[in-house]
Amino acid sequence: PLIMSSKSEDEKSLKKIKNDLILPDNKFPKDFLWGTATAAYQVEGAYKEDGRGLSIWDTFSHKKGNIVNNDNGDVACDMYHSFKDDIKLMKDLNTTIFRFSISWSRIFPDASGKPNQKGIDFYNRFVDELLANDIRPFATLYHWDLPQYLQDKYKGWESKETSKAFGEYAACIGKNLGDRVNDFFTINEFRTFIEMGYGSGVFAPGTKLPEEKLGQVRHNAVLAHGLAVQALRTNSKNKVRVGLADNLSIAVPVVETRENIKASQIAMREINASYLTVILEGKYTEKYLKSFSTNALKYTDEELKIISSPLDFVGLNVYNPTHLIEAADNKDGYKVIPFAKSFPTTTSKWELIAPEALYWATKHVKDIWNVNEMYITENGSSSIDEKTADNKIYDTDRISFLRNYLTQLQRATSEGVPVKGYFYWSLMDNFEWTSGYSVTFGLYNVDFKTQRRYPKMSANYFKEVATNNKVM
Ligand code: NOJ
Repeated sequence: PLIMSSKSEDEKSLKKIKNDLILPDNKFPKDFLWGTATAAYQVEGAYKEDGRGLSIWDTFSHKKGNIVNNDNGDVACDMYHSFKDDIKLMKDLNTTIFRFSISWSRIFPDASGKPNQKGIDFYNRFVDELLANDIRPFATLYHWDLPQYLQDKYKGWESKETSKAFGEYAACIGKNLGDRVNDFFTINEFRTFIEMGYGSGVFAPGTKLPEEKLGQVRHNAVLAHGLAVQALRTNSKNKVRVGLADNLSIAVPVVETRENIKASQIAMREINASYLTVILEGKYTEKYLKSFSTNALKYTDEELKIISSPLDFVGLNVYNPTHLIEAADNKDGYKVIPFAKSFPTTTSKWELIAPEALYWATKHVKDIWNVNEMYITENGSSSIDEKTADNKIYDTDRISFLRNYLTQLQRATSEGVPVKGYFYWSLMDNFEWTSGYSVTFGLYNVDFKTQRRYPKMSANYFKEVATNNKVM
């Protein structure tokens, strides 16, 4: 017989590779927090249960033709009933924070102004379950589901009465949850629900106003934000921390030269003039004001003070850049470069795949406004998510998306940009607004017939990230 050496040459080589392997050094800062996010109307269902009033999204989705397949959120992920099991999924991912939203019309179902105790009790149970599982709750007060009675009575965000009502709702949440929830976001994505709900009219309530009138709607919403910041602080038992979750417009320097970066900073203030800039600076930019005729925008200095109430942190929903910028010698100080027609996107055609958006969004916010605490309140990919016969989903495009975006986020934190945590959108597939259930962002797939949840391959990926606190 042939005499074999105790170790083959191949084995020796493999061992050497193992010993020499240097793992990528792309850690996030110690104490960086990992979590997922959802929103009430997109996941809760139970739309008539325990005294919940209707919201503009119930009305809008019940109208034929507004939503793909005429889907609606009547049942959605049924999280109203399954939250205990769903919190286990968060644990399975090794996440320690969770961002959810409170349904305003569960708390104030009608014009009586009387809070609905059963609605409050639901969020008490929800928050207690999170805390029992060592998951820190971050609650959003407004994720687009305006109580229908406010739309009927005041035309919703067209009136400052809605801003006031939001302040009262925030006070009620502070009183009831402010002893256990320490972190709040007032409003989610001003730009989306206003421009699409009151401008193009493709989102609830489906109002179509001309640009000239939209300014006031935007103002009423940022005013509501400021009123809520104050109401949460004065009515909560604990010293709660308050911020917002804004999908800021993101100016990316097309080539990262000093000149282009400066130009993109100038652009950032302008393209965010109506929301983030006024909230962080307490004034509208001159250029923005000039875009309205006299008296089109009604506000007072007192309101600007309320709007710019100091925040504990800023939450950013980041999916893609909105502007590519180059330096220019024109009156604006910057030039906008068009996106190439072949720019890659996810299955949501608006979602350009451009990971550097995450770097520039956070870096700009720090450099321009000196913000010293930020969270990525949303980031995620919509993918085709094909299921195999044995219920596996190899969403490798989502994994690649995440790796690339997180690499850019790690680039920011390693340079000292103060991002403290990241919430993946979304924990599970859910009601994606006008796309209904046809567009999926979840780490977990949901079979909407059985309400069973299946982890996608990206759930494993995200768990590794959360466990190791690094890009994987
Ligand atoms: C932003 C919104 O806040 C969320 O509700 C939505 O589902 C995701 N982006 C994906 O479009």
